[in-house]
Amino acid sequence: MIYKIVKYGNPVLEEKCDPIEPAEFGSKELKQLVADMFDTMYSAKGVGLAAPQIGIKKRLTVIDPSAGDKPEERVVLINPEILHKEGKLTEEEGCLSIPGFRENVQRAKKTHVKAQDAEGNWFELIGEDLLSRAIQHENDHLDGILFIHRISPLKRDLIRRKIRKLEKAGEWD
Ligand code: NI
Repeated sequence: MIYKIVKYGNPVLEEKCDPIEPAEFGSKELKQLVADMFDTMYSAKGVGLAAPQIGIKKRLTVIDPSAGDKPEERVVLINPEILHKEGKLTEEEGCLSIPGFRENVQRAKKTHVKAQDAEGNWFELIGEDLLSRAIQHENDHLDGILFIHRISPLKRDLIRRKIRKLEKAGEWD
């Protein structure tokens, strides 16, 4: 199923998410949730989606830098922990929960992360460039941090003001 993506302003996006519990790994429910998150992400033409963006306060994200072109690039990160970051890269970034807004964000060029898969197995992954950016962006979501928290206060306020106008016009739900 395709979930409705929660937009900026909903408190669930700015809360710390809870870990996926050992009993949940390997379950039909968790596998279905992962599949639904990929479907939701692809239908929104995104390259990453975190569970809080569909209103679920859990430490689970899906990423596909190829946006559905290459199945082998699909990544599921459950209870991720960033082990190491290296280098810097500033590029334009957006978020499915803040549609229509993009800003330059500085991220580490390389990110080494450890996470569990849907079966509960721990694995490590080193991402570079877009994958590195996606890992950091999605991992931030699990701590209630959005890309607009990583830009200047001036730019952030401008985006917030524009969103408030959209809200008043009923164009942001
Ligand atoms: Ni996002």
